[in-house]
Amino acid sequence: MSSILTLFYFFLFLKIATCGAQKNFTLNGFRGAKLDLDGIASITPEGLLLLTNATRLKTGHAFYPAPLRFKSPAGKTFSFSTTFVFAIVSEYSFITSNGMAFLISSTVNLSTAFPSQFIGLFNLENNCDAANHVLAIELDTIQTPMFADINDNHVGIDVNCLKSVDSRPAGYFSGSATDQFESLNLHSGEPMQVWVDYAGGDMQLNVTMSPAKMPKPSRPLLSVKVDLSSVVYDQMYVGFSSATGSSNHPSHYVLGWSFMVNGEAESLDYRKLPQLPRLPRSKRKPKHIVVWLLPVAIFTFVLMVAATVILVVRRRIKYAEVLEDWEQEYGPHRFSYKDLHRATDGFKDKELLGEGGFGRVYRGVLPASNIEVAVKRVSHESGQGMKEFVAEIVSIGKLRHRNVAQLLGYCRRKGELLLVYDYMPNGSLDRYLYDHTKPGLDWARRFIIIKGVASALLYLHEEWEQVVVHRDIKASNVLVDGELNAKLGDFGLARLCQHGTNLRTTRIIGTIGYLAPEFARKGKATTMSDVFAFGAFLLEVACGRRPLGIEAGEQVFLVDWVLENWKAGTVLATRDQRLGLEEEPSAVEMEMVLKLGCLCSHPMPEARPSMRQVMQFLDGDKTLPDLSPACMSFSYPSLMQNDGYDDDTSISVATMSTSSLQAR
Ligand SMILES: *[C@@H]1O[C@H](CO)[C@@H](O)[C@H](O)[C@H]1NC(C)=O
Ligand SMILES: *[C@@H]1O[C@H](CO)[C@@H](O)[C@H](O)[C@H]1NC(C)=O
Ligand SMILES: *[C@@H]1O[C@H](CO)[C@@H](O)[C@H](O)[C@H]1NC(C)=O
Ligand SMILES: *[C@@H]1O[C@H](CO)[C@@H](O)[C@H](O)[C@H]1NC(C)=O
Repeated sequence: MSSILTLFYFFLFLKIATCGAQKNFTLNGFRGAKLDLDGIASITPEGLLLLTNATRLKTGHAFYPAPLRFKSPAGKTFSFSTTFVFAIVSEYSFITSNGMAFLISSTVNLSTAFPSQFIGLFNLENNCDAANHVLAIELDTIQTPMFADINDNHVGIDVNCLKSVDSRPAGYFSGSATDQFESLNLHSGEPMQVWVDYAGGDMQLNVTMSPAKMPKPSRPLLSVKVDLSSVVYDQMYVGFSSATGSSNHPSHYVLGWSFMVNGEAESLDYRKLPQLPRLPRSKRKPKHIVVWLLPVAIFTFVLMVAATVILVVRRRIKYAEVLEDWEQEYGPHRFSYKDLHRATDGFKDKELLGEGGFGRVYRGVLPASNIEVAVKRVSHESGQGMKEFVAEIVSIGKLRHRNVAQLLGYCRRKGELLLVYDYMPNGSLDRYLYDHTKPGLDWARRFIIIKGVASALLYLHEEWEQVVVHRDIKASNVLVDGELNAKLGDFGLARLCQHGTNLRTTRIIGTIGYLAPEFARKGKATTMSDVFAFGAFLLEVACGRRPLGIEAGEQVFLVDWVLENWKAGTVLATRDQRLGLEEEPSAVEMEMVLKLGCLCSHPMPEARPSMRQVMQFLDGDKTLPDLSPACMSFSYPSLMQNDGYDDDTSISVATMSTSSLQAR
C-alpha cells in the first residue's frame, strides 16, 4: 500500500518537475501527504487531516504544499473546481463549536490570524483588507454580528473578509421533483461533502454541499458572480483553516480532497477515505451524548418538578388548617394560619410571651392591619365538642367589657387550636405577684385589679345576653394592660381540654387550688365554681401566695392558712408582706378581701356569694356578714377526700401542683 503511495508521489513530483505547474490532485485520505501544516493542525495515523485538537483559542492550517497556477499568462483567471469531505466533531453537540474554511490564499503564513470566530483567516486589523488576497468558503458555526452572520450554521463565500459576499444556512436541495431544501448541521459530527466550482469565463462561483456519499446535488447552495481577477495572483495556495474557541474545542476533520484547475475535480473514492475515530471523537459520540444527556435532562426536570412539588406541599403542610363547613359562618373570626405564622415570625422563641397550662402564647403583629396580638397555641385533637367550643369562642369574641381580654378570633389546625387576643404588653398578673423582677403592686392597684376581675365575672355571669362560665379564673389568666388594668382572658379553655386526654384533665386539676370541690367531683362548671376560683384569686392577690403551696413537704391550702389566722385574730398577718398598712383604707379593704376570699372559697356552693354580691362587698355598698371563722372552719384536703377523691387522684393532684410550682 505504502509502496503504491510512494509511487504515486514519485509521479506527482515528476509531473511538478516536468511541467512546472500542477493542475490537479486527489487525496482520498492524507496518510503520507506532505501538506503544509501549521498551528495545531496535524495528520492522524489513520490519514485524517485534523485541523484542530482540544487546545483552546488556537488556529490550524493545512495547505497543499505547492502553489497552483490560477491565471493564464494573459492574466485571465482560470476556472477551478474542488471537493472535500469534512466533519466537525464536537464533544458537546449542543454547545456552539467553531467553524472551518476552505481557502485559496496568496500566502501560507496566516500566523497573525485570530482563532474562534475569525476561523484562523484574518485578524481584527486585516479583516476585509483587499491586500489579503484570500477567497474562503466558510463553514461557520458561530453567529458573529460583527460579520453580519445570518445564523450559527451557515455556508458563506468570503472575499478577503469574514463579512460574506453571500451566505446560506447549511443544507442542500434534494433534487427530487419538489427540490426541497434539506438542512444540515455543520457540527453534527457527520461527514459532509462540499463542492466549490468557479467558472473563470462568467465569474460564477458555486458552492454545493450534501451529506457524505450522496451524489452531488444538481442545484448549488450558493451561486454568486464573483470577479476573482483582483483576488488571485498567478500562483495561489489552496488549503484549509480552522480555529478553536474559548469554551468548546471541536475537532475539525478533512477526510479527502481533490482539486483541479480548468476542469472538474476528480470524485472522491469513499472506499478509500479514512474513518472518523469512533471514540472519544467518533461520529457516534454526539448520539451517545444525546442518549446520555436525555436521561440527565429528564432527571433534572423531574428533580425540579419534585422540588417544586415538595416546596408547595411543604408550604401547604406548613400553613395547613382545619376548616369545616360549619365554620363558614364564623368567617370574620377565622384567622389564616399563614397570617398568624407571619405575625409571630414563625412562632419564634423570641416572640414567646409565656407558657401556660394550655399552651404557649406568642406576641405577633398581624401583617395586614399592624395590630399587635397575642396568639395562644392550644394543642387539641379536634373531636367532639369542637363545634360547640368554636361557637362559644366566637360568641366570646362578641363580649365587650373593659376588663375582658378581647378575643379577636381563632384558627384551627390539625391537633391544634390558635386563639388570637388583644396583646397585653404587661403580661399576666401572676408575674407581678411572684416575679420579683417586676415592680410590686401596691394595695390600691391590687384592689382596682380585684374589682376589675369581679366586674368582668359579673358581666359574664349576669349582665351579658347569655351566662358565660369562665372555668379557669386564676392570676395567670388575668392580663394586665398598659395602665395596669385587669383583663380576664382564657375563657372556656378548661372545658375544651376536658374533652381531651386524661393528661389534659389532670392539667385542669393542676389549678387545683382554684377548683371548687363540686366541680372537681362532678366536672360540671357553674357560676358558683367560678366564684370559688375567684375566692382563691382574692387570697392569692392579697397574700401574694399561690392557692396551694408546699410547706415542709406538705400541701398547704392558702385558704386553710388564712382561716387559721382569722381564728387566731391575725388575719392581716397573712397579707403579702410587701404591702404596708399605713394608709387608712388599706387595712380595712385588705381584711375585707381576705375574709371575702374565704367566703367565696366555701366548700358548699350555696354558701358562696354571687358575683353581684361580691361586687357590692367590694364597692362597699354592703358590708360582709359578720362571720365567725369557726363556722367557716373546714379543711380543704379532707373535703376533697370526702367528696370521693381516691388516692390515685390525690397523688396526681399533688404531682401536678408540685410540678406547676416548679414550672414557675
Ligand atoms: C490529474 O493528475 C494526474 C497525475 O497527477 C493525471 O494522471 C490525471 O490525468 C489528471 N486528471 C485530469 C482530469 O487531468
Ligand atoms: C495539539 O496539537 C499540537 C500541535 O500538533 C500539539 O503540540 C498539542 O500537544 C496538541 N494538543 C492536544 C491536546 O492534543
Ligand atoms: C509570518 O508572518 C509574520 C508576520 O507577518 C512573520 O513575523 C513571520 O516570520 C512569518 N512566518 C514565516 C514562517 O514566514
Ligand atoms: C453554477 O450553478 C448554476 C445553476 O445550477 C449552473 O447553471 C452553472 O453552470 C454552475 N456553474 C459552475 C461553474 O458549476
